[in-house]
Amino acid sequence: MKIKATTILAGLCLLQSAMGLIYAQTWQNLITNIENRQVTTLNGMWKYIVDPYESGYYDYRRQVRDQQSWQNTAEALYLAHKPAHKGERVEYDFDKSDNIIVPGDWNSQKEKLFYYEGTIWYYKKFVFTPTPGLPRQFFYFGAANYESDVYLNGKKLGKHIGGFTPFNFEATGLLKEGENFIVVKVDNARGLEKVPTVNTDWWNYGGLTRDVLLVEVPETYIKDYYIQLAKGNSELIEIHVELDGPAKVGQVVTVNIPDAKLTFTGVSDENGVVRGSIKARKLQYWNPGKPFLYDVNLSYNGHTLKDRIGFRTIAVKGRDILVNGKPVFLRGISIHEENPLRGGRAYSAEDARILLGWAKELGCNYVRLAHYPHNENMVRLADELGILVWSEVPVYWTIQWENQETYNNAENQLLEMITRDKNRASVIIWSIANETPVSPARTGFLKRMISTTREADPVRLVSAALERHEKPGSRNVQIIEDPIQDYVDVISFNQYLGWYSGTPAQIMDNEYEINYDKPVIISELGGGALQGFHGERDEIWTEEYQEWLYEETVRMIDRIPQLRGVTPWILADFRSPRRLLPDIQDGWNRKGLISQTGNKKKAFYVLKKYYEQKAKEYGE
Ligand code: GCU
Repeated sequence: MKIKATTILAGLCLLQSAMGLIYAQTWQNLITNIENRQVTTLNGMWKYIVDPYESGYYDYRRQVRDQQSWQNTAEALYLAHKPAHKGERVEYDFDKSDNIIVPGDWNSQKEKLFYYEGTIWYYKKFVFTPTPGLPRQFFYFGAANYESDVYLNGKKLGKHIGGFTPFNFEATGLLKEGENFIVVKVDNARGLEKVPTVNTDWWNYGGLTRDVLLVEVPETYIKDYYIQLAKGNSELIEIHVELDGPAKVGQVVTVNIPDAKLTFTGVSDENGVVRGSIKARKLQYWNPGKPFLYDVNLSYNGHTLKDRIGFRTIAVKGRDILVNGKPVFLRGISIHEENPLRGGRAYSAEDARILLGWAKELGCNYVRLAHYPHNENMVRLADELGILVWSEVPVYWTIQWENQETYNNAENQLLEMITRDKNRASVIIWSIANETPVSPARTGFLKRMISTTREADPVRLVSAALERHEKPGSRNVQIIEDPIQDYVDVISFNQYLGWYSGTPAQIMDNEYEINYDKPVIISELGGGALQGFHGERDEIWTEEYQEWLYEETVRMIDRIPQLRGVTPWILADFRSPRRLLPDIQDGWNRKGLISQTGNKKKAFYVLKKYYEQKAKEYGE
């Protein structure tokens, strides 16, 4: 008797979801290039139940409900259960609960949830009609902050940890034709062992913060692929294609790039992987400010998956950063994933156009997406606009360096970030940390992250935002004393001379002593100002003070001979629970060059002028 492959797959997916109950490295299952696949959006109105005591997940003895019988996953049924008769006691009812929009954080949608940190249960009923020829289904989440447990029709599909990276769980065999219901438990509670840990300088937006999609694929499908120029070779395209499914071995896969008149054909090995390369002369290269994206078609067994990919080389040579062999100066700005006009997590193509549009107005050819991987719209738009990108995992401040689970979590988020964006020409730097205190445990943790990064992506540059220190016994000699400098390609550090130490009048008294023949990026600098608050330039919080700080800072940093880029902090004011000065901050970090109402501050124009000068210096 021939057991249908989908039945086997259903069993595997149930097994995986059972295994999924123990935290798994979800990056290994990630499906990439979602936007060009057969997807049905589950975005829109969902129901939600606020559950600060997690009573949907634990019984009154704090026992996890689904340990009783994981197959029927009591907690999802528990909350979604309908009374079978008028005498049955049921204390929850999703259908009678409030609505909430997905994607979107809950803090900025509901006044009563503005400060909420804990569990919220999401619920959505939907009708499913299978697409002929695509017998496998996955639920794909662009991200959910921070920990998610996903259930379909009362059965657990899996758990994801990490608030800023995509994940998917297979639902083949569990999804019914007709009406289904999905329940997602999202918990944004902070924790010492988490990544990031309890202390950050940004708002802890919780919820289904990005797209939720139902993806349908063939029984054997292309899960992931890498199609980029080989390291150090502008005329060779490296190709890896990973198939998943019962017929993944010995499959003929074709990669066609029509505008480059290139066609590669390979056969998948015993793991379902096709590896190869193809000579590519006379390519039109992707350049900052002058992007070019090729249509790329991946075909196998009568199926085709399309993408748009740019080809460029990236390297460091001495103190220079080379894009397509040409030295560049990274005229950048740091960006949080927040639409300040809405005061909530950014997630949409429209949000990306606002944020990157402001960066372009500033004269940027580069952005630092801080402090965590942003939504895919940002990197895809950066590809289209020709803006270089620094992408970062939230290994931020005082992570638990000696906790193996913390490391596994950080590494999984790193690999989800790299897996999703490894075909984006705009992304040139992977950052593995921000302002982490030097210690043997921390340096060991970061070295492991760096080697994992290089293994996953031998081409792109690796960096981390370090900290500067005043040279002992000196006056105003600044140094970067950090063992990690030996392991990164680009030395990056944050400095706030004129804000957290000294005044703008003293900035020029400083000089940097950096004894490395590597490119240097200043990954943060700046100071705060309330837009529209004017006064003498020595009055803090005035636009004039911030303007003066920027004028002095750009003069001082230009004296660093290895300086090859800067990403001032920050494009726009952003929410932070740490910034509470009444009438000035009111819960906003005011270091933005643009206010939360979209108004530019005077310092915006100081930086814009500096970038015009840098562009000329580099012959752009
Ligand atoms: C730090 C940190 C930022 C923070 C900024 C500030 O360098 O990296 O996340 O917002 O300084 O103090 O405003």
